[in-house]
Amino acid sequence: MKNIVLTGFMATGKTTVGKKVATTMSFGFIDTDKMIEKMANMTVSEIFEKYGEDYFRRLEKAAVKKAARLKNFVIATGGGVVLNPSNIVQLRKNGVVICFVARPEIILRNIGKNKDRPLLMVNNPEEKIRQLLREREPFYRFADCIIDVSDMTIDEVAEEVIKAY
Ligand code: S3P
Repeated sequence: MKNIVLTGFMATGKTTVGKKVATTMSFGFIDTDKMIEKMANMTVSEIFEKYGEDYFRRLEKAAVKKAARLKNFVIATGGGVVLNPSNIVQLRKNGVVICFVARPEIILRNIGKNKDRPLLMVNNPEEKIRQLLREREPFYRFADCIIDVSDMTIDEVAEEVIKAY
């Protein structure tokens, strides 16, 4: 069976929903950020800090390539995976790509005090979220399906993902 690939903005619940969907469908679960952390033996923040975003994106591309070869998996991806069209091409070969979006205030609330989002470690994270949402919006249309998760519970989102699959 095809993989279920969860893309979309940071802190929209890709990992939480992904684990739930994987359990319901008896699929495996994998998270590309975790694969990258294992590859580098560092956290995402440490990679950004020590080597910069470009290096992180190269590791991300390698992780996507590996994940795309899996079968019967839910693959949760980092929010920036959509920026590289070749990542989406890889993931769509054997996967249905679903993209989560949410209103900026919901994203801000979900992020809370989580320090492992280097792109949002700025003076005005809300403004940064709005900017990134604007910049990334054109890339979201490469998904098979887009879900606005703003007013949904984890269970409702998981149900929508399974319906879309
Ligand atoms: C990023 C999202 C993060 C992580 C990195 C970059 C992005 O993943 O890959 O901090 O560019 O949107 P989550 O979407 O899981 O937070």
